[in-house]
Amino acid sequence: MENLEANNVISDIRRRLDIVDVISGYIPLVQKGKNFFGVCPFHDDTNPSMSVSREKQIYRCFSCGASGNVITFVQDYEHISFKEALTELAEKAGVLLPNISYHKKNDAYEKFYEIYEIANKYYLNNIQTNLGKKAKEYLHNRQIDDTMIKEFGIGLSLETQGDLVQLLEKKGYNLNELNEIGLANSNRDLYNNRIMFPLKDLSGRVVGFSGRRYDGKKENKYVNTKVTPIFQKGSILYNYYDAREFVRRKDQVVVMEGFMAAIRSISIGVKNVVSLMGTAMTKEQMDLLKRLSLNVVLCLDGDEPGQHAILTHGEELENRGFHVKVVELSDGLDPDDYILKYGSESFQSLIENAINYRDYRIKSLKKNINLNSNEEVSEYINQVLLEASKLSDEIRQELILKTLAKEFDIGYNTLEKRLSTYIEKNRPKHQMDGKKVLEKKMKKQTKYELAEHYLLYLMLVNGTVRNYFEQGKFNFSTEQERFLASEIVYYYKLYGSLVPADFYTYLQDKKELLQLLDDILMLEVGEISNQMIDEYIRVVKENSVNLEIKRLEKMIREKNDPLEKARIAEEIRKLKMGSE
Ligand code: UTP
Ligand code: MN
Repeated sequence: MENLEANNVISDIRRRLDIVDVISGYIPLVQKGKNFFGVCPFHDDTNPSMSVSREKQIYRCFSCGASGNVITFVQDYEHISFKEALTELAEKAGVLLPNISYHKKNDAYEKFYEIYEIANKYYLNNIQTNLGKKAKEYLHNRQIDDTMIKEFGIGLSLETQGDLVQLLEKKGYNLNELNEIGLANSNRDLYNNRIMFPLKDLSGRVVGFSGRRYDGKKENKYVNTKVTPIFQKGSILYNYYDAREFVRRKDQVVVMEGFMAAIRSISIGVKNVVSLMGTAMTKEQMDLLKRLSLNVVLCLDGDEPGQHAILTHGEELENRGFHVKVVELSDGLDPDDYILKYGSESFQSLIENAINYRDYRIKSLKKNINLNSNEEVSEYINQVLLEASKLSDEIRQELILKTLAKEFDIGYNTLEKRLSTYIEKNRPKHQMDGKKVLEKKMKKQTKYELAEHYLLYLMLVNGTVRNYFEQGKFNFSTEQERFLASEIVYYYKLYGSLVPADFYTYLQDKKELLQLLDDILMLEVGEISNQMIDEYIRVVKENSVNLEIKRLEKMIREKNDPLEKARIAEEIRKLKMGSE
């Protein structure tokens, strides 16, 4: 890959893809001025700290410093190797990757993925055979038709207990591996006579299964793949991979708690859906949601655990910057039951009319209070005011105050005063956003450092400045800057032109240089004039003279020989004169 041709292919792929389009396929971006901003997926954040530049075809997070081009984004986002990301992007760009030997880098796990691919095909096949008749009957009874079975890759494990293990052993995988990745129990198949739902990772590869029994018995209704090197229940969301596009279009993601709920919902056209496997939601899953959209609709089961989970997850999500809405399903129904009972249109309208989380919470506060107890009523009012204080919408706050005042015959002003104290308590002490942090960091640079960075920037885009550097008209004060400068010169000799986003890829193994390149690309450089170039060179030279003088002065102090001291002093005098 180190040759010229490979690099040309890479930059060809990169050039055909607009970084803004690609990144907005993963996270929502909003344009502000020249750049686009989104919530950085590479650290825990709620502010839109990531800036994406269409002009430079790079991204950078003000807060965590993550940066790079379209290839590094896909790499880091999907946790895949450079070559895997490249392959994916090549496909997107419609470019063939010729003669580039493609070795997937993660091959430690490659075997596991292969095994799951085989197992998945095996289960898929089973359900279409005679042995799958009963399972199909069960699914048909639940109004899962053959098209849906295919669409969701639903399969079947057989009663025969050792078939899959034997098949995989024949293909050269050993029992230890099959046990480790959760498909075998000792020398037998782990899943016996269950309807198999494939679970995909973030890149759409099958990495686990959930097997549902269909013999009518209730115990162990679902058996899920245990934690393996490639699967963890709390690190995935069911249907995440397939929902991405639909979520992006709506900028909204509906969260449910079971496979059947998601499958039913998708089958009636509500496709921006992901499912938890149970009611628990991990921090990791919230981060996954953040990659999809900040607008979440919680549509968990209508039973007590589901409604309780809405309250806790909703709060946590709101704290993380999501806008949360809630669908309240009546009579303990889950979305699947609801749709079958009341029809798709009714369900679609529930989703469209989902209520704000805060309102849902306030409503739920009222459920258990005893209106005859002053104590309980006053506690309730306080709770409502506390909730209201978390709203950013003053009109909604006012409405709540009015309702309370009327309902309990309490002075509006009294309520308002209490609300203000809560609002005051909530106010963050002082929050510095990413941009301010960065500005502060930038200010710490001396004018010399800044001038050197500007010159490096100019070297990226301007041949005259590159020539000056080659001719020794100026030099940089740090080794890294000198290294980067010579890489720039070398790159131009090799390719004749330089696009920063491609230069990124070229430097990908030299992390320290990438960091420096980042800082440089952050600079806003307007139109370039000769005067400007001369001025930067003057400042940089002034700096090197100062540094040289300092070095000599130190030498004088260390020397004992008066003659030597005099010689150095003379050198210093000359330098000082020259720089005046
Ligand atoms: P539910 O009991 O609501 O199941 O559990 P469901 O999705 O509605 O499925 P059906 O309609 O009964 O077929 C919700 C989710 O909790 C997890 C599964 O992921 C399920 O989809 N679960 C439930 C388990 O992992 N194990 C269990 O034994 C039960
Ligand atoms: Mn159910």
